[in-house]
Formats: sequence, structure tokens, C-alpha cells
Amino acid sequence: MLGDLLTRPLLFVGGKGGVGKTTTAAALALAAAERDRRCLLVSTDPAHSLADLFGRSIGNRETALAASLWALEIDPDQQADEHLATVKARMKRLVHPRSYAEVDRQLDLARLAPGTMEAAMLERVAEVMEMAGREYDQVVFDTAPTGHTVRLLSLPEVMAAWTDGLLGHRERSAQLGSALRHLGGGRKKGDDLSLLESAADHETGSRDEELNDVLQARRRKFVRAREQLLDPAVASFLMVVNPDRLSVLETIKAAEMLRRFSVPVTGLVVNRVLPDDADGVFLAARRRQEAAYLEEIDRAFARLPRVRVPLLPGDVHEIEALLALGRRIVGAPPPA
Ligand SMILES: Nc1ncnc2c1ncn2[C@@H]1O[C@H](COP(=O)(O)OP(=O)(O)OP(=O)(O)O)[C@@H](O)[C@H]1O
Ligand SMILES: [Mg+2]
Repeated sequence: MLGDLLTRPLLFVGGKGGVGKTTTAAALALAAAERDRRCLLVSTDPAHSLADLFGRSIGNRETALAASLWALEIDPDQQADEHLATVKARMKRLVHPRSYAEVDRQLDLARLAPGTMEAAMLERVAEVMEMAGREYDQVVFDTAPTGHTVRLLSLPEVMAAWTDGLLGHRERSAQLGSALRHLGGGRKKGDDLSLLESAADHETGSRDEELNDVLQARRRKFVRAREQLLDPAVASFLMVVNPDRLSVLETIKAAEMLRRFSVPVTGLVVNRVLPDDADGVFLAARRRQEAAYLEEIDRAFARLPRVRVPLLPGDVHEIEALLALGRRIVGAPPPA
């Protein structure tokens, strides 16, 4: 049992595709709500699986699901569009109306550049993380499959360093024209819209200060997110694994990477373990194969608290079934 999983305000649930992340995150969110912890369940998965799971539309705003439980599906597309609209408006205040069409063209191109969606998404994630321990006692992130999550989580550091670079850049007072030309061609991989914001930084005076404030605020947001993420008293990372070869391999790799970034991994849910009473020749063969992977999991994660969850006869959709799963992972709530 992972009894202390719901004692920190931030919980990230990660793992390979299809292992049961969304199910586990929802189960734990329900368990948190059952403990009267105001809980926000957040999905960063563009597939919008929370809506499917709870059988209702949720979308890009906090939506009440049950007592003490809210959900939010961050939409990277919408997020990037909103960000782009802000940047466009800001740049148009700095150029002659004659150049508006060119500003639009450049920024519409940037919308498609690698990194743009992730940057917009990450900024939103950072904002939602800020709500943990304030508006909500518990924020549970149902993340996209492992590789992406780990990369995303490692970005705040990069983003902060980047914004620092931009601040230095604008002090050298680059010309908007040359900045736009620079953006038009030869964009380096990983550029995001924050670079475009710096293109507007050619003016001095109050506008300059305003931009400086915007960049500084952005930087603080990412630094703060990173601090939260690395603070074992604030954040925990729960990994979900299935007892099969690919899932085990990927989870071992992900755990190593998280450790390298000093992200506190606090537990492991071994999901879809064949129940003892499942009978038949076919299942006996499967169970033998599974036993080897269960052993490997125990060996590789000997120091990590973990809980086994059986393969259930059907998909887990009903609230009661999800809550039962949550209790299996963190235990029943203490009597009132
Ligand atoms: N222990 C279990 N027993 C039976 N079915 C399960 C169990 N855990 C999860 N499932 C089912 O497996 C399917 C996939 O689970 P889920 O959507 O939680 O995975 P995921 O890791 O979020 O997938 P994705 O990577 O696509 O987001 C769902 O239909 C879910 O109901
Ligand atoms: Mg999912």
C-alpha cells in the first residue's frame, strides 16, 4: 500500500502507453476527494481520455465532477493559439500597420515550429502546478506516455535558462526588422514563441519595462514549477508498469532518467497482474511468463514502495470501481 501518496500537494502519474495511467490517476483523485482533499485531476494528454473515462465533456477549464473533485484537460492546440494571439497583439503595438500582415505570417509559421506546442503546454502546466496547495489540496497529473513526460518535466530548467538568454539579448536592443528576418529563416530546433516575444524588444522606455516584466514573470513561473517538482515535500511521481517486457524496460529507463533530473519517484503501481484464481492452461502459461517480470520489477525497484493491482475482468469505468482501485493503492480513508 502506498499510504503516503496523497500527502503531498502534487502527484504525477506516468508510464508507458496503455499501462493504466489514466485509470490510476482517476482512482487516486477519487481517493483524495474521498479524504475531503479538494482535488484537481489534470490531463496533459491530447487524446482527452478523462472525458471518455468519466463519460462527460471536460475540456480546457476546471470542471466539477463530484464532491471535492474537479478535472481539467489541457489542450496544447488551444494553448498555443492563445499564446500566439497574445504575442501578435503585443508585436502589433510595436510595428507600423503596414507590417501587420508580415507579423501575422511570421507568427503563423512559428505556430508550426517544433517546440511551440510543448512550450505553450508547459506554461499552462506550470500555472496549474501553482494551484497545488492553494486552490486545491491535491493536484493529480495524468501524463502522456513516459518519454514525453520526462522530456516535458526536464524542460523548466531549459526554459528558464532560455528566458535568461532572451533577457540578455534584449538588453543589446535588437532591431525588430532583423529579428523578424532572423525568425523567418534558420530557426533553430527547439525555438519557441518566447523568442518571438524578444523580437518586440527593440523599444526603450515603459514598453521595454513592460516586456521585461513579462519575461521575468514567465521565468519565475518556470523556475517555480521546477522548484515544486524537485521538492520531495511537494511533488511525487508515481509510475505505472505492467508485468511485461516492454513496459518493464521502459519503466526502468524512465526511472533512471527521473533520478538523473532529481525528480522524486515515490511509488510504483504494478497493474494488470493476473489474479491467483485465474485458471486454465492458457493463463497458467501467461502467469509463468509474468512471474519472471514481476521478479524483475521487484529486483529493479527494490527500494521503491509498490503495490500490485490485479487484472480485472472488465475495463474500469464506474466511479465505484475506480474508487475501489484507489483504496487498493492508498488504503481506505481513516474513520471520520
Ligand atoms: N487492472 C486493470 N484491469 C482491467 N482493465 C484495466 C486495468 N487497468 C486499466 N485497465 C483498462 O485498460 C485500458 C487502458 O487503461 P488507461 O486508459 O488507464 O491506460 P493509459 O496508460 O492511460 O493509456 P494511454 O497511454 O493511452 O493514455 C482502459 O480501458 C482501462 O479500463
Ligand atoms: Mg491515458
